[in-house]
Amino acid sequence: MLEKRISEIQADALARIGAAKSDEELDAVRVEALGRKGTLAQISKEMGKLAPEERAAAGKLLNAAKQVLEEAFERRKREFDQAALTQRLDAEWIDLTLPAPGPRAGSLHPITQIQMEIEDLFVSLGFMVLDGPEVETEYHNFDALNIPPEHPARDAQDTFWLTDGNLLRTHTSPVQVRGMERFKPPLRMIAPGRAFRNESVDASHEHTFYQVEGMMIDRDVSVAHLLYFMKTLLTEVFRREVTVRLRPGFFPFVEPGFELDIRCLICGGSGCPVCKHSGWVELLPCGLVNPNVLRISGLDTEKWNGFAFGLGLTRLVMMRYGIDDIRLLQGGDLRFLQQF
Ligand code: FA5
Repeated sequence: MLEKRISEIQADALARIGAAKSDEELDAVRVEALGRKGTLAQISKEMGKLAPEERAAAGKLLNAAKQVLEEAFERRKREFDQAALTQRLDAEWIDLTLPAPGPRAGSLHPITQIQMEIEDLFVSLGFMVLDGPEVETEYHNFDALNIPPEHPARDAQDTFWLTDGNLLRTHTSPVQVRGMERFKPPLRMIAPGRAFRNESVDASHEHTFYQVEGMMIDRDVSVAHLLYFMKTLLTEVFRREVTVRLRPGFFPFVEPGFELDIRCLICGGSGCPVCKHSGWVELLPCGLVNPNVLRISGLDTEKWNGFAFGLGLTRLVMMRYGIDDIRLLQGGDLRFLQQF
């Protein structure tokens, strides 16, 4: 009687193991057949009532059934594990032979790009590229450029003064002075860099902006030389014909002094916020170096003269790319920067 029940339980459990579709179903069958309160455990209890020789035969059969079922469970479980692994491998398959994506490439800021172009051009024309401090002395920023204290030209550049008497340079012109102090003429130098003014910021004015200073000291330098270099510079940067105008400009460190303006490339000259509705953008103040400046730096004005210019690099970049608001350049917005 017990033997028959054992055979039935075994056959039934084997059938359900075969039909189980998940780990959970399989576990449920295992608990029901082999668990502590399962059907085979029940039989084990009932065996106590049997006569000893019957008990031995039934016990054998019971152990055999347990073993058969344990093995069947293990086999089925391995099948499930294998299937899960295969599925995972299929889903997570990667082609190791594909090239790696590599680091995401950044790009140079448009101001840096044009600064480098200008440096290359001037180096090819025999100029040195100099650097100067952004925190300057009053002497280098003003006095040595023929702008003594109380000179009204100081008011034209709203200066960030520091408590120690130094200042944030208001232009790159102090590097002219440092160039003359350091090198003997003949001298050809440019000095790109940042300048700072306490401006009220608008579409064409920033408190922090870039200029490129330029200076050439030699014998018999004339306005013709100055114009040659300025035209070469603008043709190179804009790679097209630009309309320029030269008008007198006053800077104490040049004499004669000029403002070289270009026809606004944003609006084509009809007027816009960038050109303050004048059609022209002030880009390149320049002139022949005032002999006072040469004298202050210890140069013999009988032998040497020269020209100097102070290019507004930030505005030049705006003209080149048609950027209609200077604030975009240092705003840090990646959507803007990624276009370059
Ligand atoms: C100067 O700074 C003189 N040092 C230039 C110079 C050098 C003249 C050598 C003669 C010989 P100015 O203040 O005009 O000049 O500034 C020069 C250029 O810098 C301007 O034409 C303009 O393009 C740019 N610039 C001036 N202020 C700002 C500003 N707040 N934001 C952006 N660009 C500015």
